[in-house]
Amino acid sequence: MKPKVLITRRLSQAVMDMLNDNFALSVNPHERVMTREEFLAAARGMEGILPLLTERIDGEALDAAGPQLRIVANHAVGYNNIDVHAATARGVAITNTPDVLTDTTADLALALMLAVTRRVPEGDRLCRGGRFPEWNPQFMLGADVHHKTLGLIGLGRVGRAVAKRAAGFGMRLIYAPHGECPAGGVDPVCGAKCLSLDEVLAQADFLSLHVPLTEETHHLLGAVELARMKPSAFLINTARGPVVDEQALVEALTSGRLAGAGLDVFENEPLIHPGLVGLGNVVLLPHVGSATVDTRMAMGIKAATNLAALLLRGEAPPDCLNPEVLS
Ligand code: DGY
Repeated sequence: MKPKVLITRRLSQAVMDMLNDNFALSVNPHERVMTREEFLAAARGMEGILPLLTERIDGEALDAAGPQLRIVANHAVGYNNIDVHAATARGVAITNTPDVLTDTTADLALALMLAVTRRVPEGDRLCRGGRFPEWNPQFMLGADVHHKTLGLIGLGRVGRAVAKRAAGFGMRLIYAPHGECPAGGVDPVCGAKCLSLDEVLAQADFLSLHVPLTEETHHLLGAVELARMKPSAFLINTARGPVVDEQALVEALTSGRLAGAGLDVFENEPLIHPGLVGLGNVVLLPHVGSATVDTRMAMGIKAATNLAALLLRGEAPPDCLNPEVLS
């Protein structure tokens, strides 16, 4: 008998084929996120669940699934949608999808930096609207990216991949670490200089966020921190929306305390603060950091591989976040 697995959203056909070959699948039949009630009902009796970041996996969800549940294989590297402690207490393994989306997300951070400084969406709208005027030396002037200072908050996989790309633009690299600075004060992998958060805020021309969302990082960037940044600086967020106090960000952008922002994530997705939507100095994207055909396929394969390791072979899933449940 194939193990029963719930997939909360249809994935690419190649991934669905791989899952179908190995598991007795239940798949969300809707072209939308399941309601909480639908999800809790669908989870009942499953041995594995493959959720997206849109599903909250907490004690209630784990209990709704039942004691036969062995693994939740998140289809994302971020796992703030999952209560890992609750899962560990119930002996359920949690996995995520690291590595495969690092470069794709870093590419998007650079895209946002360039789009907001060089006013790419605005120029595109002008051209499509037949409003390309004659060439004018004062028209659509933006800000340079090259040779500016990039401040990274968090220097994990994606942060370093952004740093590597920024080095190609001749940028000066500084970062605020999660814990202590390394010996020598420079990251051995990308060469970014380690400084305190306040120093990074004060020196960065671009501040790019690369921390996971946890209780400690919730509203890491609020009114006080934004006020420490240069008025000419740009904020780039491809991490998680609630790392920034969105109300404080709107106020900083509206008052000229901050030059602009490139945002792929929001505090209350899919809702976007109405104050952001009306601003000309922001570029807004609908959480598409990992959204390429190849990367989404790789994420699906990774999640399926984690499910297969535990449910088919009784092995440790490669990306297990709570390996203590396996012993
Ligand atoms: C992640 O993996 O955490 C992204 O935000 C969604 O792809």
